Amino acid sequence: MDFRIDLILQSLPVLGQGLLMTLELTVLAVAIGTVLGTLFGLMRVSKNKIFYFLASMYVDFFRGTPLLVQLFLVYMGLPQILGFPLDRFTAAIATLSLNSGAYIAEIVRAGIQSIDKGQWEAALSLGMNYQQMMRYVILPQAFKRIIPALGNEFIAMLKDSSLVAVISLEELLRKGQLIITRTFRPFEIYFAVAILYLLLTTLISRFIAYTERRLNIESTD
Ligand code: ARG
Repeated sequence: MDFRIDLILQSLPVLGQGLLMTLELTVLAVAIGTVLGTLFGLMRVSKNKIFYFLASMYVDFFRGTPLLVQLFLVYMGLPQILGFPLDRFTAAIATLSLNSGAYIAEIVRAGIQSIDKGQWEAALSLGMNYQQMMRYVILPQAFKRIIPALGNEFIAMLKDSSLVAVISLEELLRKGQLIITRTFRPFEIYFAVAILYLLLTTLISRFIAYTERRLNIESTD
């Protein structure tokens, strides 16, 4: 059996480009997803029935259907209604963000609901209205609590972003596939792709663990 390590080394620059695209997709999707998730998470704890209903539909749809199907729906389905084509990058970012937003909405909802009743009562007794209470008392504490969960979502998205290879967006997995069509060496290349994903997820989970430790230290001060 020969294992062509030289081939892996040669492929690294191209795989590196893919890795950057994967990171870009993930960072953007989780950033936009956090904005969406905060909005929809707030709607899910709102007493307004319509807000609650709309947010629940959104969360249920994007968590209850496969990301792969959502990707096809946006990339191939939406242009039919819009009347103009979407480029791959836009379609990928839109789908990944909407999907991540649904998962983050649940994280935010749980974070808000985990804040002690006393905090709400204290805010009320200071004469705050709902908006002020959320902005100055509840959300800051909730966000601190959900940082580890957001980190996990980041890792999940990093891996799931490989699904956009099916619309030929050249992220890490797709770059690997393209190299294989030239070299006919799937074992070496997929192995390298896997190791690169592993490297990223390990680095990020270390970083999350570190942040978690720091936050714990701060909260006992
Ligand atoms: N693998 C699941 C799917 O295909 C979830 C994808 C999205 N994951 C996430 N954490 N946003 O539907």
